[in-house]
This record gives sequence, structure tokens and C-alpha cells, in this order.
Amino acid sequence: MDMRKLAEDDPLIRNVEKDAGGDELSPMDPPDAYAPPATEAVPYEKLHPFLKRLVDDHRRIVERLDALDATIVQVEKSGLSPEAGSAITGFFAFADAELAAHHRREERRLFPLLRERLIAAGEHSASDQKRTGVDVMEDDHLTALKQAAVAVAFIGLSTRLPDQKSGLMALASGVRQCKAMSEALRLHIFREENIIFGQAQKHLSGAELDRITVEQG
Ligand SMILES: [Fe+2]
Ligand SMILES: [Fe+2]
Repeated sequence: MDMRKLAEDDPLIRNVEKDAGGDELSPMDPPDAYAPPATEAVPYEKLHPFLKRLVDDHRRIVERLDALDATIVQVEKSGLSPEAGSAITGFFAFADAELAAHHRREERRLFPLLRERLIAAGEHSASDQKRTGVDVMEDDHLTALKQAAVAVAFIGLSTRLPDQKSGLMALASGVRQCKAMSEALRLHIFREENIIFGQAQKHLSGAELDRITVEQG
């Protein structure tokens, strides 16, 4: 994804911002989300190496999110300094490369087979679409992509607007999107590690996970 190109496309971004904003998590309501009623968490040591690698990716993603959150606190206190600007640019370069590669690894290697198995095991919604946890995870990936695009668009815009008040409003919107994206990605990682990867370990054989690992190259 070319963030700079997306940043130029303001009318689209405005619509996306409206959608993505609707998913923003309320600080008044996170505890339930972090306490799933039926956790299928498998300890790291017992995970198949393919799943361990995904958890290792998560640790690097969380480190980057921690750094982004710290930068955002700085921006809220003292505005967008050149240092904060380059830290934010650095995060989105990481998102464009490593985070996107992580999502692709899950979507191409793990999710299709796991979705099949969850449906076969009856672990899906009662609706005709038979939605599984995998579908929810894929929706999360898309939401993160939209939130990242909106954040980059607004922060970029804030540096170009000649009117100071408009610039500050754009910056505030960018900051809000960064926070929403960080919070949503953390919850996404929690759900994968506590539900989805445990389901993968349960429903896929060791040989299947070995094959996925080899296919990954
Ligand atoms: Fe994911
Ligand atoms: Fe993941």
C-alpha cells in the first residue's frame, strides 16, 4: 500500500475515517474484550513452530505500538516535532512492510485451512454466511489498514494546511486514528493468541502445520 498516494485521496479517506472511527474502542468498555469466556490459549512452548513465529511477530508489533503510543503522548503534549514526525513515519513504514507481511502470512497460509476446519467442526455463526473467528480476524486486518491510511492522511495534511486551526484539527484526527489503530491491533493480537492459534493447534495436524511452514519458504 502506498500511504503517500492514499494520503492524497481526501474524499475517500473521509469516508473511511467515518467507518474506521465507528470501530474505535471505548476506554469504558475493554475488560470484557480481554476476557473471552472460553479461552483456547496454548502456552508458547507448546505451540507449533509456525504459530510460534506468528507470536514472535506479535512481540515485535507490540514493541512498535508501544513506541508509537509514546510518540502520540508527546504529540498531544507538545505538537508534531520533526522527531515525532519521523518516529510516526517510521512506524508506518514498518506497518507497510512487516505488519502487512505478517497479515499476509496469516491470511494465505493459516486462515483458509483453519476456516474450513472450524466450519466442519460447527464452530461458526448460525447465519448463512457461517462466519468463523478467522473471518473476524480478517476484518480486523482490513480495519487496521483503513485506520493506518486515515492516520497517515490526516497527519500529512496537518503539515500542509496553511491555517493553524485547521492544521491542529487534522493533527487531532490523525492522533485519534493512531490511538484507535493501536488499541484495535492489541486486542486483535490478544484474540489470535488466546483463541485463534489455540484453535489452529487443535484442528490442524502437526503434518499440516509442518507443510504450511515449508510453503512459507
Ligand atoms: Fe492477524
Ligand atoms: Fe497476527
